[in-house]
Amino acid sequence: MHTKKSTLDAVLESVACGVMITDKDLNVVRLNPSAQLITGWEEHEAVGRPCKEVLRPFLDGSDCPLRSCIRKGTTREEEIITVLNRVGDQIPVRVVSYVLFDDEHNLMGGIQTFGDIRTVHELRTRLARESSFEGILSRNHRMRAIFDVLPRLAESHSTVLVRGESGTGKELIAKALHSLSGRRHQPFISVNCAALPDTLLEAELFGYVKGAFTDARQDHEGRIAAANNGTLFIDEVGDLSPAMQVKLLRFLQDRSYEPLGSNKTRKADVRVVAATNRNLEELLQRGLYREDFFYRINVLTIDIPPLRDRKEDVPLLVDHFLQTWGLLNNRPTMRTTPLALRAMMAWDFPGNVRELENIVERAAVLAEDESIDLSNLPDELQHTVRRGRQERDKPGGIISSSSFSPMELSERETIRTVLEENEGNRQQAASELGISRATLWRKMKKYLLD
Ligand SMILES: Nc1ncnc2c1ncn2[C@@H]1O[C@H](COP(=O)(O)OP(=O)(O)OP(=O)(O)O)[C@@H](O)[C@H]1O
Ligand SMILES: [Mg+2]
Repeated sequence: MHTKKSTLDAVLESVACGVMITDKDLNVVRLNPSAQLITGWEEHEAVGRPCKEVLRPFLDGSDCPLRSCIRKGTTREEEIITVLNRVGDQIPVRVVSYVLFDDEHNLMGGIQTFGDIRTVHELRTRLARESSFEGILSRNHRMRAIFDVLPRLAESHSTVLVRGESGTGKELIAKALHSLSGRRHQPFISVNCAALPDTLLEAELFGYVKGAFTDARQDHEGRIAAANNGTLFIDEVGDLSPAMQVKLLRFLQDRSYEPLGSNKTRKADVRVVAATNRNLEELLQRGLYREDFFYRINVLTIDIPPLRDRKEDVPLLVDHFLQTWGLLNNRPTMRTTPLALRAMMAWDFPGNVRELENIVERAAVLAEDESIDLSNLPDELQHTVRRGRQERDKPGGIISSSSFSPMELSERETIRTVLEENEGNRQQAASELGISRATLWRKMKKYLLD
């Protein structure tokens, strides 16, 4: 039998996004072709099933987004979640849930529209790949300049000193120098000069022979010997005592040394990479650092800029750390709200990338759903935004153009005007703007108009 199509049928068949219509019990009534593609369900099989069986949230215990919308008392909600299609593939989708009420405010049903955002994800991943070198992420020009010279530095046998504040990625650079060099299949051995007192450090580096001291019951190979043919990473070299500097200087000059308790000179073919977060010139001036050692260690240097001088890396790193965390914790679509990201952009990160990594991980654990909000960040970061808000709310204060795009600034201006015209009545302002109260509220929060 040939039935004439309704306008609704035509709309459902033609739109590119998935549409699912449910009745008041949230059982499926309609599932359009795009929704069938995303979910893997045919419409006739889906009809009558609870919505959360068809648009199946990936997170255990999560309900159908419509249900949470109703529970929160909002009529419209937009979010990004991960769903499982019929064969169990994870698909990140952007879902808009809309609750339908009749005139008496009785629940009539709901509509959910959703789109597959995997391509967006893939783009983000590709962008991250292109902004990374040997696992080091950055799109900052000074960092890119370092990436450019790394292969050449890696090939040379000269000592490289990596300088930068704590947590800037000195060890990552040292490892990259090793893995880009011809020594990549040989050992990479670290020794931390700040962790050990002189006598132990000396034994660690040079090794000792049986009987060298009371506890030396047998010969012990040092780190230098272990690094033979490979790379020796001397970390925190600024913390080395002048006495140890003398001992190491000899090795740096001709690669020869004697294990403790032995008078037999040994040789090792070792590439040395050193790192420090201390100001060596200042130590030199204060007489805490030996000049001869300084010049020996300071041949080729790499200066890693602190994170506060390359804020453009913050979103990239946040994404990267969220992805890594998401993989380990089965939460692949974890993301940040714009406000949370803005708070992070405003922070100076005294602990640099390591601090950012910790903040992201902590926030991901604290977040109640798949988005990290301002409230999940440490207090001091929340204050950066709040302080900014007070500044902006002062008479004559303006939103700085760096915090919003021109489009956003004009949207903010429209919302502010309409709110003023309606004397702050949000219901009226929302209907005049043609958006829901929930959306208005969200935008007011975003633009600091609340
Ligand atoms: N550009 C980057 N891309 C990705 N991860 C980074 C980057 N920089 C640093 N990290 C990460 O930040 C953390 C700190 O890096 P790393 O240990 O190399 O710093 P460091 O300069 O040696 O710090 P410290 O001075 O405290 O020894 C590590 O987990 C590292 O993987
Ligand atoms: Mg380090």
